[in-house]
Amino acid sequence: MLIKGRQAVFVRHQSTWSRLRNATRKTSEKVNETKQQLKSTQHDYSVRPQTYSHNADDNKELFESFPLMNSRKLMRYKDRPRQVRMLSRDFMDDSLYNPNYGYFSKEVEIFTPSKPFSYNEIANQDDFLQKWTQEYNQYRKRDDKGGEKTAAKDKLKAPSTSKQLWHTPTELFKPYYGQALARYLLVNYKLSLYPYADLVIYEMGGGNGTLMMNILDYIRDTQPDVYSRTRYNIIEISGNLASKQESNLNTQAEKGGHGNKVKIINKSIFSWNQEVPEPCFFIGLEVFDNFAHDVIRYDNFTLQPYQGYVVIDGNGDFQELYSSTLDPYAEEFLRLRENLPDYTPSWELGYHPLAQPAYLRRVKNAVWPFRGNFSDPEYIPTRYLEFLHVLKKYFPEHRILTSDFTHLDQTISGYNSPVVQTVLNGEMIPVDTYMVLQGFFDILFPTDFDLAAQLYRKVCGKVVKTSTHREFMETWAELDETATRTGENPMLSFYQNAAFLHS
Ligand SMILES: C[S@@+](CC[C@H](N)C(=O)[O-])C[C@H]1O[C@@H](n2cnc3c(N)ncnc32)[C@H](O)[C@@H]1O
Repeated sequence: MLIKGRQAVFVRHQSTWSRLRNATRKTSEKVNETKQQLKSTQHDYSVRPQTYSHNADDNKELFESFPLMNSRKLMRYKDRPRQVRMLSRDFMDDSLYNPNYGYFSKEVEIFTPSKPFSYNEIANQDDFLQKWTQEYNQYRKRDDKGGEKTAAKDKLKAPSTSKQLWHTPTELFKPYYGQALARYLLVNYKLSLYPYADLVIYEMGGGNGTLMMNILDYIRDTQPDVYSRTRYNIIEISGNLASKQESNLNTQAEKGGHGNKVKIINKSIFSWNQEVPEPCFFIGLEVFDNFAHDVIRYDNFTLQPYQGYVVIDGNGDFQELYSSTLDPYAEEFLRLRENLPDYTPSWELGYHPLAQPAYLRRVKNAVWPFRGNFSDPEYIPTRYLEFLHVLKKYFPEHRILTSDFTHLDQTISGYNSPVVQTVLNGEMIPVDTYMVLQGFFDILFPTDFDLAAQLYRKVCGKVVKTSTHREFMETWAELDETATRTGENPMLSFYQNAAFLHS
């Protein structure tokens, strides 16, 4: 079964499309002038990156007349920016993480079942799915009711139906999933570090704090001598989730006594600036998928790469332009990839533009004459590359343990492209571009694990392995605990589109 990890179950009362359309109707003359100056003979007002892409080099003066912005500077902005240009990855970062209007600044919530499922009372996988769906829907309804009351009292507050609700394997299979990871940590710690060093764990993106609790409970119950020298740190970008982790720690973990072992640091991994010289394990589950990517298109004749920028005009509308000047991370990524002896594109991620024969690129040129002779887009993991540099610089003695999605359904067009989705009237709506009203959409990327491992080896200079979700669980989980009566095991058969990177 292929699970798309998270579902945003929220309903907004006005569709983003209609808001965007309304915004475009308020076109000022000045903005129309700007549009007409773009040297792409024709341009449609709506964002249609499949049909239109502009060469920034041909529109240099106009392109440079928009001040260059980035997501770090935009953190201070209360409102969405206008009359600026930024790299596509900065646009995505701002859409997801801006503290005032970004997707993660809303009330994100990760579904957690009220108690662990009793697998030996569940008939089979279908029965498990039914029970799980029931609980998920009840949780959602409870949540909606609570929120409606708050919204009715406070007209300025978004209705609770805009709450983002996700599910993750940590929560779905708690505490067994966390226990599998704890076993992995303990064995590797005992083999290589014990008794010379403490067991130090860093978890990036701790969600509800469930993994932290499950790992610490397991270590306490099975290896008290290691427990006494264990320290657990969470690096969490979301203020809401960091508070939730803190309050879970104060209520539930206090009973288990983990309080003095845990430190919650409310910041992005990309703002990390403290060296951790001691050996440590670095965990990150379902965090890579929200790492922003850059967009590259190649000249259809010379194959020269061009990097995508989003230009936001005076109305808040978006244009995508491509510049031949690459920023340092895009340049480094393309250089590293070029020199990886074992790299081949993954068929699960689309048709790589550089793998397409020249005749096909020429046909596409004829079919889409307004794409400035550019190829289909490729989404490159520049934030992941930046993350590797953070690991190398600040966590030189780390060992990594991360998991994420290898591929996703309903992605936008392009190679290694994301799913961009929102829910309207209770229904999940995937859209076909990432250039949508900032903050209302989840932007979720797959990870090419073979490539991620090769880049990790290059940048961090360490050995690393990849395993499918199933392989990892078969090795480290106590599978009897999650087997249903017929022997089917949802912890093995769910998340077939997930993998681990571990060292
Ligand atoms: C999909 S949730 C997964 C939560 C948890 N790991 C789990 O599996 O249940 C992603 C988590 O990563 C956090 N996150 C996303 N980007 C981050 C960043 N740049 N630095 C630190 N945390 C981040 C989110 O706030 C959230 O806690």
